[in-house]
Amino acid sequence: MPKIHILPEILANKIAAGEVVERPASIVKELLENAVDARAGHVVVNIEGGGRKRIVVADDGVGMEPDDLFLALERHATSKLASEADLFDIRSLGFRGEAIPSIASVTNLTIESRVRELDVGRRITVQGGIIRNVEEITMQPGTRVTASRLFHNTPVRLKFLKTPQTEMSHITDMFIRTALPLTEIHFRLDVDGKPNLEFPAGASPKDRLYILWGQRLTRRAVSFSSDTVEPRVSGYLILPEDSRTAPRHLYAYVNGRWVRDRLLHKAILDAYRPFLTKGRYPMALLFLDLNPAKVDVNVHPTKAEVRFTDPHRIYNLVVSNIKAALDAHARSEFLPRDVSEVEPWQVGRKQDYHPIRFKEASGGGRNLRGSGGNLHISEPVRPASVPAPRILETSSPQYRLPETSPVPFVKLLAQLGKSYILCETREGLLILDQHAAHERVTYEKLKLGAAGTSVSRQMLLTPEVVELSPKEFARIQDLRENLNAVGLEVRPFGERTIIIRRVPALLKQIDITALINELLDDTADTPPSSDEVGLLDHVLIVMACHGSIRSGQALSREEMETLVRDVLSLDSPLHCPHGRPIWKKITFTELEKELKRR
Ligand SMILES: Nc1ncnc2c1ncn2[C@@H]1O[C@H](COP(=O)(O)OP(=O)(O)O)[C@@H](O)[C@H]1O
Ligand SMILES: [Mg+2]
Repeated sequence: MPKIHILPEILANKIAAGEVVERPASIVKELLENAVDARAGHVVVNIEGGGRKRIVVADDGVGMEPDDLFLALERHATSKLASEADLFDIRSLGFRGEAIPSIASVTNLTIESRVRELDVGRRITVQGGIIRNVEEITMQPGTRVTASRLFHNTPVRLKFLKTPQTEMSHITDMFIRTALPLTEIHFRLDVDGKPNLEFPAGASPKDRLYILWGQRLTRRAVSFSSDTVEPRVSGYLILPEDSRTAPRHLYAYVNGRWVRDRLLHKAILDAYRPFLTKGRYPMALLFLDLNPAKVDVNVHPTKAEVRFTDPHRIYNLVVSNIKAALDAHARSEFLPRDVSEVEPWQVGRKQDYHPIRFKEASGGGRNLRGSGGNLHISEPVRPASVPAPRILETSSPQYRLPETSPVPFVKLLAQLGKSYILCETREGLLILDQHAAHERVTYEKLKLGAAGTSVSRQMLLTPEVVELSPKEFARIQDLRENLNAVGLEVRPFGERTIIIRRVPALLKQIDITALINELLDDTADTPPSSDEVGLLDHVLIVMACHGSIRSGQALSREEMETLVRDVLSLDSPLHCPHGRPIWKKITFTELEKELKRR
């Protein structure tokens, strides 16, 4: 006798509900989405007993024709898809036709709905998936769905529900998440009959965002928007100094739909990386709008995950736009407001400053990366009378300032405690941490070198031999390619020994053994298979730290000037690669306040 049979519909719906309705918040999500898809202008949610007792979602949208109410209860019944082609052009939040029957199978459900064209509406009452009552009612156009006694017929699932407070907090999260980008709709959340949250229509997402981030951080947040039309990214970014200790505050939306997407989260984190210390995470709100044909939203029962047809493009778009916004912000913080009023850079003695000249193999631009031409760094052209600066002598083209336009922002004052460089700006005093600043400059130069076609290396007079443990020896093999990319040539030399013959030209006076040891320590918990960029970045950070001016090192005026110039020509001169600040500003206004002049 055959053993396979088709499941009764009620059971099939319960099974679908297992995926769609995880907890009260999932019901709120589905009902909110239906209201949004019905083009509502006002949506009111009322929650009782943490959603377990009752969830009501009322909207003033298009409503349902009386007979459509029955259809809405059927599985795979939807007004949002007509043909297979529509599945690849989804412009609504719902499309699976599963929510209403799923909810109906695990609650007592009442749907009331009226279309504008008819004078009366219809109420349909369902218990355990079975229609109990149908009646005519008078009501305003729109729809009201009431789901009560959640999971009363599935005791096992009931047991998994948390306290009403916990469930309520999930509902609130869900409510905020859904409402956040839909600023043209008025949303209200009532809890046990009392108004709890209200988002009036017409505001910007920022006016809703403060609920998540608080007033202060939201006010300080940087907004950004790509200049592309499709795909387009925009959003709000927390300042790096407002970062968090967990990556929990990333909100991403694809075509208005909240998603939990790894690619987008990774792009946000990667873009922030140069601005944050290890263990710190950003808060960001990201909107990605793209042609619906280029994203598959049908990969997850609750539609929380998506798949892009061109993930690389999306990743790069997000990273580059967030980075640009953070860079622009960092620069605006760093520079005096009105450059024209600022005293010009006080170098004046042109003969003191000799930027290194570059021979370019092919005509290429200033950029090492894209030009494709090999850049050969030649020895600096320096009159014999000028002493060679000890460390800061190489300067990559990115940091070379045009000789005709000296930096107009800063006047160099002095070195303080052999650790800080003091500069005057129009706004007051700028104190640079010489180690942090140089570390950042070196890091950027090494990175540029690693990304380019050729790195300038130099041969060591006596090659350095380092003995390692077997584990370290294996680890170094994993790192070799990355080390080589930045100009540190490591070769096996016997069973557990390595030999280093060449180092990046930037790092002349380093203790190589110390560098190797720190590289091994610092990358110890990064698995070899982890992403290349992350590993290379680790290597760069450690190398930059080792190859940089220390605190407590006396600097000549030329060295300080070079460093300040180099820092000022960085894209985001705010933090060292470890995320520590590079400088501190004391404004005249602050001084005047401190000294009671005001
Ligand atoms: N609030 C509402 N206003 C108007 N129509 C609704 C509403 N809720 C549900 N519907 C109708 O019921 C259908 C089924 O809803 P649902 O089960 O959530 O599936 P889906 O949203 O995936 O289409 C929808 O396609 C829509 O036509
Ligand atoms: Mg739906």
